[in-house]
Amino acid sequence: MKIIRAVELKDEQLHIIDQTKLPLTEEIIITDNLERIAIAIERLEVRGAPAIGVTAAYALALSLKNIPVEKQSDVFNVSYRRLASTRPTAINLFYALNEMKKVFDRFETKDNLYKLLLGRAISIHDDDIKLCDSIATNGLTIFSKKMRVLTHCNTGALATGGDGTAVNVIRKAFENGLVEHVYADETRPLLQGSRLTAWELHEYGIPFSIHTDSTAAFLMQHGKVDLVIVGADRIAINGDAANKIGTYNLAVLCNYHNIPFYIAAPTTTIDMNCSSGERIEIELRDKKELTHFGGKQITSDEFSAYCPAFDVTPNHLITAIITEIDIHKPPFDFSHV
Ligand code: MRU
Repeated sequence: MKIIRAVELKDEQLHIIDQTKLPLTEEIIITDNLERIAIAIERLEVRGAPAIGVTAAYALALSLKNIPVEKQSDVFNVSYRRLASTRPTAINLFYALNEMKKVFDRFETKDNLYKLLLGRAISIHDDDIKLCDSIATNGLTIFSKKMRVLTHCNTGALATGGDGTAVNVIRKAFENGLVEHVYADETRPLLQGSRLTAWELHEYGIPFSIHTDSTAAFLMQHGKVDLVIVGADRIAINGDAANKIGTYNLAVLCNYHNIPFYIAAPTTTIDMNCSSGERIEIELRDKKELTHFGGKQITSDEFSAYCPAFDVTPNHLITAIITEIDIHKPPFDFSHV
């Protein structure tokens, strides 16, 4: 199957697939500029919690390229704060930044600090590739027969450093003859489902269709969905899980229709400082994401609009959380992973 990499380091430059252009145009952003990379994260040119973390780790390292030793500390701290301000909910961003800070704190005065930081960024990326593989292997066991799967947002290679979380489970199951069809929610307002998940499934040759988010209930009512699997941007210790807005709707629908609802995510998505979902900060996006569509205004700018990027699914609606370690069943307690 085709290998897709959302982010790659080549010749000390970051190559980022511009996800705002997919699937109609495949464009690569090539840069080592911290501000450009921070903007790419804010604009969702690169998005998905693990991919944001990997990108931020590279960005932090690259910001120290050619910086004299006496200025390294200031540059590191400014870059760290800029990246930390880009997207508040995806915990993988803060995981990656803090891993980089550990290296900085240990080797602050070294003149090869840049190389040490770049090495750590590469290892964060390599680890994420391995985490994605293990999640897919563990997730295979939820498929008892050839199944029809519904998913939300994008959780494939585009959203991670490796081959994805929930979409990677689907891909592995498909390779094992266990997927009949994938229903991809379009995922309003930025259409990560109908643009990105659809593009990946098409590249992999997995049978799928896209539908409006509000069609999910209809599909379930007509017995067309065997299981739902999605990703997460942040998971609390008690298993409450933040993911793309509309995920909670699906969990409620699954509960009503008696359909299993799974989350697939690496343990780097678990926030060990967060006891439950109410404590998860939810990113609010610019109202233009609702008032405009494809760059065109579709409703009055005078109307007020509410645009949370994520919602939180309470743990009692989650059948299991698939990580690289195991399939975790309720009651969830991630305090010791
Ligand atoms: O706003 P996005 O596109 O970054 O949101 C992404 C999601 O909600 C994904 O489901 C989540 O990050 C998991 S990615 C493996």
